[in-house]
Amino acid sequence: MDLDQLAALRTPEGSAALAAAARVAGGDPLAAAAALRSAGIPGGLAAAALTQAELRRRAAGKFGAVAAGMFLTRPGLEQATRRAVADRRAVRLRAAGVTTLADLGCGLGADALAAARAGIRVYAVEADPVTAAMAAANAEAAGLADLVTVECGDATAFDVSRVDGAFCDPARRRAGTGRRIFDPNAYSPPWDFVVGLAERVPRTVVKVAPGLDHALIPAGAEAEWVSVDGDLVEAALWCGELADVPRRATVLREKEGPPVNASGSGGAPSCQLTGSGAVDAAVGPVRRFLYDPDPAVVRAHLVAELAADLDATLADPSIAYLYADTARPTPYARCLEVTDVLPFSLKRLRALLRERRVGRVEILKRGSALEPEKLRRDLRLAGGAAASLVLTRVAGAPTVLICRPVPAAA
Ligand SMILES: C[S@@+](CC[C@H](N)C(=O)[O-])C[C@H]1O[C@@H](n2cnc3c(N)ncnc32)[C@H](O)[C@@H]1O
Repeated sequence: MDLDQLAALRTPEGSAALAAAARVAGGDPLAAAAALRSAGIPGGLAAAALTQAELRRRAAGKFGAVAAGMFLTRPGLEQATRRAVADRRAVRLRAAGVTTLADLGCGLGADALAAARAGIRVYAVEADPVTAAMAAANAEAAGLADLVTVECGDATAFDVSRVDGAFCDPARRRAGTGRRIFDPNAYSPPWDFVVGLAERVPRTVVKVAPGLDHALIPAGAEAEWVSVDGDLVEAALWCGELADVPRRATVLREKEGPPVNASGSGGAPSCQLTGSGAVDAAVGPVRRFLYDPDPAVVRAHLVAELAADLDATLADPSIAYLYADTARPTPYARCLEVTDVLPFSLKRLRALLRERRVGRVEILKRGSALEPEKLRRDLRLAGGAAASLVLTRVAGAPTVLICRPVPAAA
């Protein structure tokens, strides 16, 4: 997609092509192209409209109903923040007193639009001309153009004295190949700029990879890890006045929440666990119930805080499974009842599962090099019963726990 193609899509003919493409997208691409051709839509416009329609379908999972009116690129969509996460962040920024925000490297504008929806005036900067034009078009399509200004340029040259808050979500994929970048110094804008920003704007938030090395967290910043429906999606550094606690794990349940609608209301319920991230949980024996903490809790180093809430202990100091005598409902972990604890032996495990006629297993693992799919094949299971297998270590020894789910009311 280039700027001319984007401009063509934004004409009345382009809108008609997009509407026609939306009706046929998701099926056979050749049939879709033929349908647009037979409707008299020129080839170039039809191809651009079909690409947008496919991307919009894909984007619905991230952005909800508003995706249907957005302009998207594949890399821009991959890097964009989920709406539920962006909205939460924006509401927190507004509540902390941010009224004008610089979004430095705004991509397609997912975070900029969320900030505007929260009532913040946004100055967005994007280096890539097509992406910048799309961000501006997305603000217009959302009815937020009066709150979002998009400038195509280098974010590192933006005059931050004009704003009372800054947000930066540096590109962590290589342009062209799309390969992930693991070295923060190779982010764009680079890490030095990003951490230096926090020194220039007292209310700065930086979105980072969830795998961020804790050693890179600037002193005094709050590091937050966010999961959505059990998947770890991002981390953010809340700097300066925005830092409330050293570590936070935010757990969102999109599937349980009302869908986000076109006007921006609705969204996922969330729970937050906070703490220092510097405490070790006590170690003890395997107990009746096992808790598998949410990945946001594990990455935020808040397992000890969760253990205190659940009256639980680890069975190995380096493995984040918790064990307790009682099963308590918690949003921060999945709970299983342990029925058997075996030193790992394929032969013994296979014999036991056969004796119990277990034909279906889910396999969880932490601290085990075994490959679950290979183990599943090697077990050669048969029977109507189901079980959960947990491959782990107990006091350093390779161990398998046979478990069953805990009913919600246990
Ligand atoms: C991770 S994406 C931002 C995604 C955005 N937060 C969203 O949710 O839609 C990072 C963006 O920063 C842009 N970028 C990278 N370096 C830049 C720079 N020096 N100035 C302006 N934009 C830059 C990239 O082109 C990319 O679109």
